[in-house]
Amino acid sequence: MGSNHTGADRKIPAHVAIIMDGNGRWAKQRGMPRTFGHTQGARVVEQILEDADDLGIRYLTVYAFSTENWSRPAAEVKALMNLLRRYMKTSLVKCAKNNVRIRVIGDKTKLEPDLQQAIAHLEEETASNTGISFQIAINYGGRDEIVRAVRRAAREGLLVDASAFDETALGSCLDTAGLPDPDLLIRTCGEQRISNFLLWQIAYAELYFTDKAWPDFDRAELEKAIDAYNHRERRYGGIK
Ligand code: IPE
Ligand code: IPE
Ligand code: MG
Repeated sequence: MGSNHTGADRKIPAHVAIIMDGNGRWAKQRGMPRTFGHTQGARVVEQILEDADDLGIRYLTVYAFSTENWSRPAAEVKALMNLLRRYMKTSLVKCAKNNVRIRVIGDKTKLEPDLQQAIAHLEEETASNTGISFQIAINYGGRDEIVRAVRRAAREGLLVDASAFDETALGSCLDTAGLPDPDLLIRTCGEQRISNFLLWQIAYAELYFTDKAWPDFDRAELEKAIDAYNHRERRYGGIK
């Protein structure tokens, strides 16, 4: 790999966020239906969660389904929801074994009731796990999250004294309340855009884009992204 930072001096980002893109194109290239790409992509998520944990990443957040993805053909939406449903039901044992805490971010109220229940169950069962914290974004949109946060702030009376409402107060109403902001945001499969992911939280994240499609993403690719991160100088508007 030829990096200067593969050894003990390598900084591991505490929070990595991933826009897992390219499942459909990956499948099409192989003459297969798009849903085949999603099935393969789901396998990759499980492997990357283990790799991230092994590398010492404390928080991993993945974009599984956006508020805009409902506009896809009904059969594809259904296949994605079924994959998520299966994931919620099969990962309980694994999470217990690996000490993983799972949270779903996004507007869960629009999901099928049984999926909502499976999510709530998994979140409850893993809530006291102290290992890697794994966030799955489902029916998630950054703008939608901010709108829901403002509504929640209003309901909780946080807007009564408007001048007291600050960034900390808004942050505490987001789905990601209590989580640190991502240090590194990865997007696969060539597109260089945010597509409504974590708009508030990525204010100072380092961005990394790779041409690899998500189903081909692996530990070596994750390490490449971390190496690139190690060559960035984070200034937060100040000067070094
Ligand atoms: C990412 O792959 C998964 C989701 C957005 C649900 P895509 O389905 O977007 O695959 P491409 O981008 O069309 O290849
Ligand atoms: C972003 O990918 C959403 C997820 C990865 C879940 P999309 O494929 O939906 O994004 P666009 O349409 O290329 O911007
Ligand atoms: Mg896509």
